[in-house]
Amino acid sequence: MLIELIGIEKTYITRRDGVPLKALNGINLTIKKGEMVAIKGSSGAGKSTLLHIIGCLDKPTSGIYKLDGADVSKESSAKLSKIRNKKFGFVMQHFALVEEDNALQNVGIPLLFAKTPISQIDTLAMEQLRQLSIENLAKQRVSKLSGGEKQRVAIARALINQPEVILADEPTGALDSENSTMILKIFKALNAQGKTIIIVTHEDFVANACDRIITISDGRIK
Ligand SMILES: Nc1ncnc2c1ncn2[C@@H]1O[C@H](COP(=O)(O)OP(=O)(O)OP(=O)(O)O)[C@@H](O)[C@H]1O
Ligand SMILES: [Mg+2]
Repeated sequence: MLIELIGIEKTYITRRDGVPLKALNGINLTIKKGEMVAIKGSSGAGKSTLLHIIGCLDKPTSGIYKLDGADVSKESSAKLSKIRNKKFGFVMQHFALVEEDNALQNVGIPLLFAKTPISQIDTLAMEQLRQLSIENLAKQRVSKLSGGEKQRVAIARALINQPEVILADEPTGALDSENSTMILKIFKALNAQGKTIIIVTHEDFVANACDRIITISDGRIK
């Protein structure tokens, strides 16, 4: 099993009043390698929290998270960031790109963290842009790109370390229907190549294109 969550809970201590807030309340979930899974649920249900735990961006308060059979729920932050860099690529609703940099520079950022020799970074980033048919955007400043172009650059960045798993948090939430359809097609193609894909989405046409839909309500799977 690629991902196995057993009784995962996440409690936040809210900054405003210090009252604990249970964002996840006993999540049991398994995801196999090569699956394409949608996560749905209303605002505040805990979708992003769950995605962050799966992607080792955050740790559960309690419960067990097994990744490739190994319990990672109590790993140090340093170890988790190593796992994250190797295993996961993230795509966010608002792209999370460096707007002042060009597309090529943005796609190369994870390689810097992965300590790839500087001399190779541009070549690898260019190849990734080419694979998504957007090599023409390489030298364009991100702030000048359309939403659909930005999201393709963000997907290129998510893919650059050749992660096994793509985690996407409302990747079409800021796009019109034409661009949303294009982004969904890219995810489907990546899934057909064997990538495991987990997409948080509000949109039925995105969710319905997945193998399985998981609905979260008040920190629990329905
Ligand atoms: N860092 C944090 N500190 C405190 N509370 C948080 C934090 N992150 C999330 N929460 C709270 O945890 C709950 C779940 O939040 P989460 O962001 O996972 O929901 P979501 O399903 O992604 O919602 P949305 O659809 O609006 O993105 C919410 O009540 C939220 O306010
Ligand atoms: Mg969210």
